[in-house]
Amino acid sequence: MAQRIGGGSSAPEGETTVPPWSPDSWRTRDAAQQPEWPDAAVTAAVGAELRTLPPLVFAGEARTLIQSLGNVAAGKAFVLQAGDCAESFSDQSADQIRDKLRVILQMAVVLTYGSGVPVVKLGRIAGQFAKPRSSPVERVGDVEMPAFRGDIVNDDAPVPSARIPDPRRMLTAYHRSASTLNLLRAFTKGGFADLSQVHAWNQEFVATSAEGRRYEAIAEEIDRTLRFMRACGVDLSAGAPIQQVDFYTSHEALLLDYEEALTRRDSLSGDYYDCSAHMLWIGERTRQLDGAHVEFLAGVGNPIGVKLGPSTSPDEAVALCERLNPGRVPGRLTLISRLGVAKVTTVLPSLLRAVTDAGHPVVWQCDPMHGNTFTAKGGQKTRHFDDVLGEIRGFFAVHRSEGTWPGGVHVELTGDDVTECLGGVEDILEEQLPLRYTTTCDPRLNARQSIDLAFRVAELLRS
Ligand code: PEP
Ligand code: CO
Repeated sequence: MAQRIGGGSSAPEGETTVPPWSPDSWRTRDAAQQPEWPDAAVTAAVGAELRTLPPLVFAGEARTLIQSLGNVAAGKAFVLQAGDCAESFSDQSADQIRDKLRVILQMAVVLTYGSGVPVVKLGRIAGQFAKPRSSPVERVGDVEMPAFRGDIVNDDAPVPSARIPDPRRMLTAYHRSASTLNLLRAFTKGGFADLSQVHAWNQEFVATSAEGRRYEAIAEEIDRTLRFMRACGVDLSAGAPIQQVDFYTSHEALLLDYEEALTRRDSLSGDYYDCSAHMLWIGERTRQLDGAHVEFLAGVGNPIGVKLGPSTSPDEAVALCERLNPGRVPGRLTLISRLGVAKVTTVLPSLLRAVTDAGHPVVWQCDPMHGNTFTAKGGQKTRHFDDVLGEIRGFFAVHRSEGTWPGGVHVELTGDDVTECLGGVEDILEEQLPLRYTTTCDPRLNARQSIDLAFRVAELLRS
C-alpha cells in the first residue's frame, strides 16, 4: 500500500474518491515545465535503466536532515543552502567542486562563529541540472528554437538541433551526480572539512581581500581555541565532531521523469523517498496546488521546500502547508520566500501570520536572488549585491517584528572568481560583467561576495 507521508492526493473537482499516491501518480496532473521528449520508447528505456541504478542518497540521511531542519523550525539553528543556479556537465572538475565546497564551509564558519547558532549545510549541488524557463522558446537572431532547459534535458548551444530534448541526458545527470556526491562525501568525511583546516579553505584570491582577511582573523581564533582545548586535555583526534561535517545535497525537483525513476521504497520504514538528493524543492513556476510537482513531492518522505514569489497569497501558502505537511512534522517543509527587495516587507508579514496562525511549524528561508534579477545594459542577467543584502535585511526585520525565526538563506554562488553579480566590496560595475561571466543560467555571487554576505548575515543573526 502506498504511504501517505505528505498527505498524497486531494480529489480533483468532480471526483469522489482520492486516488492513492504512487511515484507516478503525478502523471494524472498537469505537469508544467516538462520537455517534449521526441521518442517515447527511448524515454521509457532510460527510465527503466535509472530504476535499476543504486539510490544516490539514503532514506536515513533524509530523516536526519529533517531532524536538523526541525531544530531550525524551532529557532535553534540556521540553514545555509547554496550552490550553482544550474550545474553544468562541462563544469564539474574536482577543483570546481572543491572550491564551491570551500566557500560554503567558509560561510558556515563565519555564520556559526559570528552567531553562536549551529548551521545546517545544504548544497544546491550533485543534481541541480534542470531549469524552469519563462518561455518555452528562444529567439537567436532570426531563428526560433526550444529554450535551454538545463543539461539534464538539452544542450545550451544556440542552434535548434542542440536544443532537441534528449532523455539519455538523464543518465548522464545521474552519473555526474554520483561522482560529485562521491567527492563531497570524501571531502566532508575524510579530513578536508576538519576545523583545523579552516585556513586551507581561504583561496588565494580571497585571502588577499578585506573579506579574506576578516575570515582569516576568525580562522586564527578557531586555531587558538583548538590549541587551548587540546592543552586542557580535550581529545580532538579521530572521531571528534570537529573533524567531519554533515553536508547535504538538494536540487529543484523539476524533471519528474527523473525524480520518479529515483524514487525508492525504504526497507526500514516502508515509506517512499526520492533518492536523487536529500532535500528537494518546488520552484515558483511549478507550485500549483493541483499540479504534478505538488502531487509528487506530497508523497515522498524527504525534507522539501517550496519557493514563494510575490504573487503568493496567504491562503495559498497555508494550503501548500496542509497539502505537503499535513502531519505538521517540524523540518519536513521549508518555505523559501523570494520576493525581491522592494516587496519583502509588504508581502512577507501576511504570509508569516497566516502560516503561524494555522499552526504550521515551517522553516522560513530567504532566497534573496530570484526576486532581484534584471538585465544589464550589455544584455547579461545580473543582480546587485545591495539588493541581495537588502532583501535579507527586510526578511530579518519582518521576522523580528512578527516574533518568528528567520531560519536561513538560499543563495546562488560559485567558488570561482566570476563577475556576474554587481557591487560587493570590490564593487563590480556593469561594464565589468563580461570579464568573467560564465554561468549557464542565473548570475552567481563570487567567493568574495559570498563571504562578505556571510559576515553581514552573521551580524543580523547576532543583533
Ligand atoms: C532557482 O532556484 O534557480 C529558481 C529557478 O528559482 P525560482 O523557482 O524561485 O524562480
Ligand atoms: Co537560479
